[in-house]
Amino acid sequence: MKDGEERQYGPLGTALVIIPTYNEAENIKSIVERVRASVPEAHVLVADDNSPDGTGKLADELAADDDHVQVLHRKGKEGLGAAYLAGFAWGIEHGYGVLVEMDADGSHRPEELPRLLTALRGADLVLGSRWVPGGRVVNWPASRKFLSRGGSTYSRLLLDVPIRDVTGGFRAFRRETLEGLGLEEVASQGYCFQVDLARRAVRAGFHVVEVPITFVERELGDSKMSRDIVVEALWRVTAWGVRERVGRVTDRRKPR
Ligand code: GDD
Ligand code: MN
Repeated sequence: MKDGEERQYGPLGTALVIIPTYNEAENIKSIVERVRASVPEAHVLVADDNSPDGTGKLADELAADDDHVQVLHRKGKEGLGAAYLAGFAWGIEHGYGVLVEMDADGSHRPEELPRLLTALRGADLVLGSRWVPGGRVVNWPASRKFLSRGGSTYSRLLLDVPIRDVTGGFRAFRRETLEGLGLEEVASQGYCFQVDLARRAVRAGFHVVEVPITFVERELGDSKMSRDIVVEALWRVTAWGVRERVGRVTDRRKPR
């Protein structure tokens, strides 16, 4: 598992593209159609947190017309992390070989999915990355770029993970990778969920590959980024970093 070059990778199996939604009524139809057109063999799971704007009902209509589309209705807004955990569990239970994370608002372009899946043939986890050469962000204000780059750099240095875009949310996991991350212990609710999974994958010795993507800011609807999400990320990442460092020091002190 440690050495990506020597490792043999099994065939990928069917992919499930999980799309968490909260108030994405203006985006849901177009994003599902684009995924279906870009990777026709893949299935889609919309994980909706009972959106007040009726996203869940629109998703049901799409599912009624297409046997490759399913909807997971959740009782209320519990954060991106909880929605993905429920989606992963559903996908693993239903036998999918690849689980993909993707936003509903068009920021992650479904047309780039084949590239992520191709890279996964030789990796355990593929991260769509804005901050590697070839990666780009379109239409983000400088303040949001600063937050994302700053968050990635802080996490990379503190947690010692060699990843440029640690917070990104366009990713493809092999099922076996997810099964090796200890998901039952994950408590992250907001966007720090992404950092949490990346750090777990690196710690577990999985081969993680970053593929450049073009991230396009949404044109419709609103971002769910909030002060609470930033605060949760900051305290969790800091706590993980401190805990690991303390662990390393006490390990060194132990007699051999
Ligand atoms: N089910 C559910 N529940 N979905 C949610 C929730 C929630 O509580 N909060 C957000 N989402 C969904 C949105 O509807 C959207 O499909 C996706 O999660 C991303 O939310 P956005 O609000 O569009 O995120 P963003 O554009 O501000 O943030 C992007 O960048 C972050 C930082 O790099 C995303 O790509 C994040 O994944 C990423 O961590
Ligand atoms: Mn977005």
